[in-house]
Amino acid sequence: MAERVALVTGGNGGIGTEICRQLGQSGYRVITTCLDAEKENLAGWQAELNAEGVDAAYVECDVADFESCARMARQVEESHGPVDVLVNVAGITKDAFLHKMDADAWAAVLNVNLNSVFNVTRQFVVGMRERGFGRIINIASVNGQTGQFGQTNYSAAKAGMHGFTMALAKEGARKGVTVNTVSPGYIDTAMTAAMPDDVREAIVAQVPAGRMGQPADIARVVRFLAADDAGYITGANIPVNGGLFCSF
Ligand code: CAA
Repeated sequence: MAERVALVTGGNGGIGTEICRQLGQSGYRVITTCLDAEKENLAGWQAELNAEGVDAAYVECDVADFESCARMARQVEESHGPVDVLVNVAGITKDAFLHKMDADAWAAVLNVNLNSVFNVTRQFVVGMRERGFGRIINIASVNGQTGQFGQTNYSAAKAGMHGFTMALAKEGARKGVTVNTVSPGYIDTAMTAAMPDDVREAIVAQVPAGRMGQPADIARVVRFLAADDAGYITGANIPVNGGLFCSF
Protein backbone atom coordinates (compact mmCIF):
# COMPACT_ATOMS: atom_id res chain seq x y z
CA MET A 1 0.00 0.00 0.00
CA ALA A 2 1.20 3.55 -0.74
CA GLU A 3 2.44 5.62 2.18
CA ARG A 4 -0.54 7.13 3.98
CA VAL A 5 -0.72 10.92 4.03
CA ALA A 6 -1.61 12.83 7.20
CA LEU A 7 -2.42 16.54 7.26
CA VAL A 8 -2.06 18.19 10.66
CA THR A 9 -3.30 21.77 11.06
CA GLY A 10 -1.07 23.64 13.46
CA GLY A 11 1.34 20.73 13.20
CA ASN A 12 4.26 22.98 14.07
CA GLY A 13 2.93 23.86 17.54
CA GLY A 14 3.66 22.13 20.84
CA ILE A 15 1.13 19.30 20.53
CA GLY A 16 1.11 19.39 16.71
CA THR A 17 4.83 18.78 16.30
CA GLU A 18 4.69 15.69 18.47
CA ILE A 19 1.66 14.40 16.54
CA CYS A 20 3.64 14.85 13.30
CA ARG A 21 6.65 13.13 14.83
CA GLN A 22 4.70 10.09 16.03
CA LEU A 23 2.66 9.74 12.83
CA GLY A 24 5.88 10.09 10.83
CA GLN A 25 7.56 7.44 12.93
CA SER A 26 4.60 5.17 12.18
CA GLY A 27 5.23 5.55 8.44
CA TYR A 28 2.88 8.37 7.44
CA ARG A 29 3.94 11.27 5.27
CA VAL A 30 2.99 14.29 7.40
CA ILE A 31 2.13 17.78 6.24
CA THR A 32 1.48 20.69 8.55
CA THR A 33 -0.36 23.89 7.79
CA CYS A 34 1.13 27.15 8.97
CA LEU A 35 0.22 30.80 8.55
CA ASP A 36 3.63 32.14 7.56
CA ALA A 37 6.39 29.60 6.85
CA GLU A 38 9.22 32.09 7.12
CA LYS A 39 8.11 33.77 10.34
CA GLU A 40 7.37 30.42 11.95
CA ASN A 41 10.63 28.86 10.71
CA LEU A 42 9.04 25.90 9.01
CA ALA A 43 12.31 25.07 7.28
CA GLY A 44 13.84 24.46 10.71
CA TRP A 45 10.81 22.42 11.79
CA GLN A 46 11.07 20.29 8.67
CA ALA A 47 14.82 19.81 9.01
CA GLU A 48 14.44 18.66 12.61
CA LEU A 49 11.81 16.07 11.71
CA ASN A 50 13.63 14.94 8.56
CA ALA A 51 16.75 14.37 10.66
CA GLU A 52 14.67 11.99 12.78
CA GLY A 53 13.61 10.10 9.65
CA VAL A 54 10.15 11.69 9.43
CA ASP A 55 8.79 12.48 5.95
CA ALA A 56 7.50 15.99 6.79
CA ALA A 57 6.30 18.87 4.61
CA TYR A 58 4.42 22.14 5.14
CA VAL A 59 1.92 24.35 3.39
CA GLU A 60 0.74 27.88 4.16
CA CYS A 61 -2.93 28.30 4.94
CA ASP A 62 -5.21 30.39 7.12
CA VAL A 63 -7.49 27.77 8.65
CA ALA A 64 -9.96 30.51 9.58
CA ASP A 65 -10.53 31.27 5.89
CA PHE A 66 -12.48 28.82 3.70
CA GLU A 67 -10.94 29.88 0.37
CA SER A 68 -7.43 29.67 1.79
CA CYS A 69 -8.23 26.10 2.90
CA ALA A 70 -9.57 25.23 -0.55
CA ARG A 71 -6.31 26.44 -2.16
CA MET A 72 -4.27 24.56 0.44
CA ALA A 73 -6.16 21.32 -0.24
CA ARG A 74 -5.52 21.56 -4.00
CA GLN A 75 -1.83 22.20 -3.36
CA VAL A 76 -1.50 19.32 -0.90
CA GLU A 77 -3.26 16.83 -3.15
CA GLU A 78 -1.21 17.87 -6.19
CA SER A 79 2.08 17.55 -4.31
CA HIS A 80 1.41 14.63 -1.99
CA GLY A 81 -1.73 12.81 -3.18
CA PRO A 82 -4.96 12.20 -1.29
CA VAL A 83 -5.12 12.90 2.43
CA ASP A 84 -6.01 9.82 4.49
CA VAL A 85 -5.70 11.29 7.98
CA LEU A 86 -6.69 14.80 9.04
CA VAL A 87 -5.83 16.06 12.49
CA ASN A 88 -7.38 19.42 13.40
CA VAL A 89 -4.99 20.87 15.97
CA ALA A 90 -4.75 24.58 15.10
CA GLY A 91 -5.99 26.61 18.02
CA ILE A 92 -5.51 29.83 19.96
CA THR A 93 -6.60 31.33 23.26
CA LYS A 94 -7.71 34.87 23.97
CA ASP A 95 -8.68 34.55 27.60
CA ALA A 96 -10.80 37.19 29.33
CA PHE A 97 -13.84 37.21 31.57
CA LEU A 98 -16.93 37.62 29.40
CA HIS A 99 -17.72 40.95 31.03
CA LYS A 100 -14.38 42.20 29.68
CA MET A 101 -14.21 40.23 26.39
CA ASP A 102 -14.39 42.18 23.14
CA ALA A 103 -16.04 40.92 19.98
CA ASP A 104 -12.67 40.37 18.28
CA ALA A 105 -11.50 37.96 21.00
CA TRP A 106 -14.73 36.02 20.66
CA ALA A 107 -14.63 35.89 16.85
CA ALA A 108 -10.93 35.04 16.56
CA VAL A 109 -11.18 32.07 18.90
CA LEU A 110 -14.36 30.75 17.28
CA ASN A 111 -12.90 31.19 13.79
CA VAL A 112 -9.50 29.63 14.44
CA ASN A 113 -10.64 26.84 16.77
CA LEU A 114 -14.08 25.85 15.47
CA ASN A 115 -14.88 27.31 12.05
CA SER A 116 -11.48 26.02 10.95
CA VAL A 117 -12.68 22.48 11.56
CA PHE A 118 -15.41 22.99 8.97
CA ASN A 119 -13.13 24.95 6.61
CA VAL A 120 -10.47 22.24 6.52
CA THR A 121 -12.51 19.07 6.91
CA ARG A 122 -14.92 20.12 4.15
CA GLN A 123 -12.01 20.06 1.67
CA PHE A 124 -11.08 16.45 2.36
CA VAL A 125 -14.24 14.64 3.40
CA VAL A 126 -15.52 14.12 -0.16
CA GLY A 127 -12.35 12.29 -1.23
CA MET A 128 -12.27 10.23 1.96
CA ARG A 129 -15.84 9.08 1.34
CA GLU A 130 -15.11 8.25 -2.28
CA ARG A 131 -12.03 6.21 -1.37
CA GLY A 132 -13.82 4.49 1.54
CA PHE A 133 -11.15 5.45 4.06
CA GLY A 134 -10.56 8.43 6.29
CA ARG A 135 -9.48 9.29 9.80
CA ILE A 136 -10.47 12.70 11.19
CA ILE A 137 -9.22 13.58 14.66
CA ASN A 138 -10.16 16.81 16.38
CA ILE A 139 -8.05 18.09 19.25
CA ALA A 140 -10.42 19.74 21.72
CA SER A 141 -9.80 20.41 25.43
CA VAL A 142 -10.84 19.47 28.94
CA ASN A 143 -12.03 23.06 29.15
CA GLY A 144 -14.64 22.31 26.48
CA GLN A 145 -16.00 19.61 28.79
CA THR A 146 -15.94 21.58 32.03
CA GLY A 147 -15.90 25.28 31.11
CA GLN A 148 -13.10 27.44 32.43
CA PHE A 149 -12.79 30.92 33.93
CA GLY A 150 -11.86 33.41 31.22
CA GLN A 151 -12.63 31.00 28.39
CA THR A 152 -16.24 31.39 27.27
CA ASN A 153 -14.89 31.66 23.72
CA TYR A 154 -12.44 28.74 23.93
CA SER A 155 -14.77 26.48 25.94
CA ALA A 156 -17.61 27.10 23.47
CA ALA A 157 -15.35 26.36 20.49
CA LYS A 158 -13.90 23.21 22.02
CA ALA A 159 -17.33 21.88 23.06
CA GLY A 160 -18.52 22.67 19.54
CA MET A 161 -15.73 20.59 18.06
CA HIS A 162 -17.07 17.49 19.72
CA GLY A 163 -20.60 18.18 18.46
CA PHE A 164 -19.08 18.31 14.98
CA THR A 165 -17.22 15.05 15.68
CA MET A 166 -20.37 13.19 16.72
CA ALA A 167 -22.45 14.39 13.77
CA LEU A 168 -19.79 13.71 11.14
CA ALA A 169 -19.02 10.33 12.71
CA LYS A 170 -22.56 9.26 11.84
CA GLU A 171 -22.29 10.58 8.30
CA GLY A 172 -18.98 8.83 7.68
CA ALA A 173 -19.58 5.51 9.42
CA ARG A 174 -20.66 3.54 6.34
CA LYS A 175 -17.96 5.12 4.21
CA GLY A 176 -14.94 4.07 6.25
CA VAL A 177 -14.45 7.59 7.61
CA THR A 178 -14.04 7.74 11.37
CA VAL A 179 -14.23 10.98 13.32
CA ASN A 180 -13.04 11.29 16.91
CA THR A 181 -12.09 13.92 19.46
CA VAL A 182 -9.12 13.93 21.80
CA SER A 183 -9.53 16.27 24.77
CA PRO A 184 -6.20 17.18 26.34
CA GLY A 185 -5.91 18.50 29.86
CA TYR A 186 -3.10 20.90 30.76
CA ILE A 187 -0.19 20.03 28.51
CA ASP A 188 3.31 21.47 28.76
CA THR A 189 3.30 23.82 25.73
CA ALA A 190 3.62 27.53 24.94
CA MET A 191 -0.15 27.90 25.35
CA THR A 192 -0.17 26.85 28.99
CA ALA A 193 3.15 28.63 29.62
CA ALA A 194 1.37 31.87 28.67
CA MET A 195 -1.12 31.53 31.55
CA PRO A 196 -0.59 33.54 34.72
CA ASP A 197 1.84 31.43 36.80
CA ASP A 198 -0.35 31.39 39.91
CA VAL A 199 -3.43 30.22 37.99
CA ARG A 200 -1.49 27.46 36.21
CA GLU A 201 0.11 26.28 39.44
CA ALA A 202 -3.27 26.18 41.20
CA ILE A 203 -4.77 24.10 38.37
CA VAL A 204 -1.83 21.69 38.16
CA ALA A 205 -2.08 21.18 41.93
CA GLN A 206 -5.58 19.76 41.31
CA VAL A 207 -4.46 17.25 38.68
CA PRO A 208 -4.59 13.77 40.26
CA ALA A 209 -1.51 12.74 38.25
CA GLY A 210 0.33 15.59 40.02
CA ARG A 211 1.84 17.05 36.86
CA MET A 212 1.09 18.56 33.49
CA GLY A 213 0.82 16.27 30.49
CA GLN A 214 3.37 16.07 27.71
CA PRO A 215 2.60 16.47 23.99
CA ALA A 216 3.57 12.82 23.54
CA ASP A 217 0.65 11.83 25.80
CA ILE A 218 -1.71 13.31 23.20
CA ALA A 219 0.17 12.13 20.12
CA ARG A 220 0.06 8.48 21.11
CA VAL A 221 -3.76 8.61 21.19
CA VAL A 222 -3.85 10.30 17.78
CA ARG A 223 -1.59 7.58 16.39
CA PHE A 224 -3.93 4.94 17.82
CA LEU A 225 -7.05 6.56 16.32
CA ALA A 226 -5.38 7.11 12.96
CA ALA A 227 -4.49 3.46 12.47
CA ASP A 228 -6.06 1.44 9.67
CA ASP A 229 -7.43 -1.05 12.20
CA ALA A 230 -9.16 1.61 14.35
CA GLY A 231 -12.18 1.62 12.04
CA TYR A 232 -14.82 0.75 14.64
CA ILE A 233 -13.92 3.65 16.94
CA THR A 234 -15.91 6.66 15.83
CA GLY A 235 -17.77 9.55 17.46
CA ALA A 236 -15.71 9.08 20.62
CA ASN A 237 -14.08 11.64 22.85
CA ILE A 238 -10.89 10.44 24.49
CA PRO A 239 -9.83 12.58 27.46
CA VAL A 240 -6.10 12.74 28.22
CA ASN A 241 -5.98 14.88 31.33
CA GLY A 242 -4.19 13.07 34.16
CA GLY A 243 -7.52 12.53 35.94
CA LEU A 244 -8.39 16.25 36.12
CA PHE A 245 -11.88 15.55 34.81
CA CYS A 246 -13.30 12.04 34.93
CA SER A 247 -16.59 11.25 33.23
CA PHE A 248 -18.23 8.64 31.04
N1 CAA B 1 -10.10 29.47 39.26
C1 CAA B 1 -10.54 30.20 40.31
N2 CAA B 1 -10.53 31.54 40.34
C2 CAA B 1 -10.05 32.17 39.25
C3 CAA B 1 -9.58 31.49 38.13
C4 CAA B 1 -9.61 30.08 38.17
N3 CAA B 1 -9.21 29.35 37.16
N4 CAA B 1 -9.19 32.38 37.21
C5 CAA B 1 -9.39 33.60 37.75
N5 CAA B 1 -9.89 33.47 38.99
C6 CAA B 1 -10.22 34.51 39.94
C7 CAA B 1 -8.95 35.21 40.40
O1 CAA B 1 -8.29 34.45 41.42
C8 CAA B 1 -9.46 36.52 40.90
O2 CAA B 1 -10.03 36.35 42.16
P1 CAA B 1 -10.04 37.57 43.23
O3 CAA B 1 -10.82 38.68 42.57
O4 CAA B 1 -10.70 36.98 44.41
O5 CAA B 1 -8.59 37.93 43.43
C9 CAA B 1 -10.61 36.82 39.93
O6 CAA B 1 -10.95 35.54 39.33
C10 CAA B 1 -10.17 37.80 38.86
O7 CAA B 1 -8.98 37.30 38.29
P2 CAA B 1 -7.90 38.24 37.60
O8 CAA B 1 -7.50 39.36 38.55
O9 CAA B 1 -6.81 37.40 37.04
O10 CAA B 1 -8.78 38.92 36.46
P3 CAA B 1 -8.38 39.28 35.01
O11 CAA B 1 -9.59 39.87 34.37
O12 CAA B 1 -7.11 40.03 34.97
O13 CAA B 1 -8.07 37.84 34.29
C11 CAA B 1 -8.50 35.64 33.55
C12 CAA B 1 -9.03 36.81 34.36
C13 CAA B 1 -8.42 36.01 32.07
C14 CAA B 1 -9.53 34.49 33.72
C15 CAA B 1 -7.10 35.23 34.04
O14 CAA B 1 -7.16 34.94 35.40
C16 CAA B 1 -6.57 34.04 33.30
O15 CAA B 1 -5.94 34.16 32.24
N6 CAA B 1 -6.84 32.84 33.84
C17 CAA B 1 -6.41 31.60 33.17
C18 CAA B 1 -7.53 31.06 32.33
C19 CAA B 1 -7.17 29.66 31.92
O16 CAA B 1 -7.25 28.75 32.71
N7 CAA B 1 -6.79 29.49 30.66
C20 CAA B 1 -6.36 28.20 30.18
C21 CAA B 1 -5.29 28.42 29.14
S1 CAA B 1 -4.50 26.92 28.67
C22 CAA B 1 -5.57 26.19 27.64
O17 CAA B 1 -6.60 26.67 27.31
C23 CAA B 1 -5.15 24.85 27.12
C24 CAA B 1 -6.18 23.84 27.42
O18 CAA B 1 -6.90 23.43 26.53
C25 CAA B 1 -6.27 23.27 28.76
